[in-house]
Amino acid sequence: MEKIAVLTTGGDAPGMNAAIRAVVRTAIFEGMEIYGVEHGYKGLLENRFKKMDLSSVSGIINKGGTILQTLRCPEFLNKEKRKIAYEYIYNNKIDGLIVIGGDGSRKGAYLITKESGCPCVFIPASIDNDVYGTDYTIGFDTAVNTGLEAIDRIRDTAASHERIFIVEVMGREHGFLALEIGLTGGAEIILIPEMKNDFNLKNILKILENGIRRGKDSSIIVMAEGFGYTKDWAEKIQKHTGLETRYTVLGYIQRGGKPTALSRKLGLTFGYNAVQCIKKLKKSEIKMVGISAGKFTTVDLKQTIGKEKSIDKKIYEMNKVFSI
Ligand code: F6P
Repeated sequence: MEKIAVLTTGGDAPGMNAAIRAVVRTAIFEGMEIYGVEHGYKGLLENRFKKMDLSSVSGIINKGGTILQTLRCPEFLNKEKRKIAYEYIYNNKIDGLIVIGGDGSRKGAYLITKESGCPCVFIPASIDNDVYGTDYTIGFDTAVNTGLEAIDRIRDTAASHERIFIVEVMGREHGFLALEIGLTGGAEIILIPEMKNDFNLKNILKILENGIRRGKDSSIIVMAEGFGYTKDWAEKIQKHTGLETRYTVLGYIQRGGKPTALSRKLGLTFGYNAVQCIKKLKKSEIKMVGISAGKFTTVDLKQTIGKEKSIDKKIYEMNKVFSI
């Protein structure tokens, strides 16, 4: 393999730049030419390949976002459009592609290899941590810490005013982020889509009222965006408890900011391992790097297609114990 390309796609995640740095520097160390594709899959459709060198990735290890930029690309769902990308990959003599992105991007990488034969390595990066085949994605730890900082601040004002607060965090239709932020932020209640049947207004009120009875001056509910409408829940809770209830939507601040040490380490290690892996790939092979039970792994990406990562219910049950 002489010439490879790297792109970032889907939602940006802190630590993506560390991964790009690792891919570029490892590829050059291994004697390969390395190209960055700007704007993710859209860049493949627009031939936005640019040659990268050692200094293209200087001073980015500590930066959030992605220097290659990213966007959602609905056109890439169209098979005819994807053929344009394959022509550019072929014409630019790209021997292998490294895709850095979240769960939706994994499917895109799979289609590229399946339809064009171009070998790929997928690097999981998303604040949602919802990618099957890895315990952690790049960026998750940073987003958890950003959420935690927000909760700590909200707790101050919640306690001062004796209010209930609902804090909505991202995560699309999954609750990995909410679960981690809720547990480590000491939330009284964590509401996630995966456990929707476990919570209704009646048992939410019961937990809150128990807290009030034993003298709690405030309560924090962490809600995943996929659970429902934060505003509606806040109104319902206020109506039934008679207590002032406010809500805060953390939104995109969770996606930005300096990557934590862990997000950087995952970025660097996944990037390094991805290049080591792609060197050995043959036509039509696709792998995914990740971490499982504390060990860095490489898995056959085809085996992960159609599989959904599930939450650790023990964490959820444990938090219920803590919030009695
Ligand atoms: O996948 C990361 C994520 O931030 C989700 O948590 C969120 O639902 C989504 O992206 C938002 O997407 P967009 O940037 O397209 O608005």
